[in-house]
Amino acid sequence: MKVSETSDVTPKQSSSQPTIRKPKQDRPPDDDRGTWKLNRRNFLSLSGWIAFFIFLFTSTLGALRFMFPRVTYEPPSTFKAGYPEDYIIGEVSEKYKDQYRVWIIRNAEGFIALSAICTHLGCTPRYLASENKFKCPCHGSGFRSDPDFGINFEGPAPRPLERLKISLAEDGQILVDRNIKFRYELGDWTKPEALLKRG
Ligand code: FES
Repeated sequence: MKVSETSDVTPKQSSSQPTIRKPKQDRPPDDDRGTWKLNRRNFLSLSGWIAFFIFLFTSTLGALRFMFPRVTYEPPSTFKAGYPEDYIIGEVSEKYKDQYRVWIIRNAEGFIALSAICTHLGCTPRYLASENKFKCPCHGSGFRSDPDFGINFEGPAPRPLERLKISLAEDGQILVDRNIKFRYELGDWTKPEALLKRG
C-alpha cells in the first residue's frame, strides 16, 4: 500500500533498530499561563538559597563584630588635677569625682586624694559639707571629713575610704595615681605618697 506524504502515521520501525527517544518538548505546554509553580524541585532549590543567604548574613555579622569588638573605655589610672595654687585650704574639691571617683582635699598639711568608692559595696558616697562628712546613698555608711578624712563611723562600711598616691608632676601639676592605694587599717596613710605636703 502506498503511504501518503501528508499522513500522520509513523512508519513502524523494525525491531532490530534501536529505540529513538523523542527530545523533550522545549516549549511550555499549552495550558502554561506563565505562573511559577512550587514543585518539589523548586522547593529544594529555594531552601538551598535561603540557607545560603542566612549563612552569608551571619558570617558577615560575625566578621563585623570581630572588626569592631565591644570595648569598655575606662578613664586612665593617672590624671593631673591642676596646680596647687588652684585650691584653697579647707577645700574638698569634687571636680574629678564624676570622671575619676576621687576627691582632692586641701588641708593645712597639704593635699590628699581620697577615693570616692564606698568600702562596703562600691557605691559613690556624697560629700555633705554642712554635716562635715561623706555619706553613701546605698546603705547609709558615713565617713568623716575634716580632720579625719575618710574614716568610717556609721553604717555597714567595714573600713575607711582609701587614699590614693598623690605627687607633683614635672610641670608642677598635682598628679594622682588611682592604681596605688593606701589603707588606713594597714597603716598606709602615714606613707609619704599618701599626702602631698604643702604648707
Ligand atoms: S555601698 Fe556604701 S553603704 Fe553599701
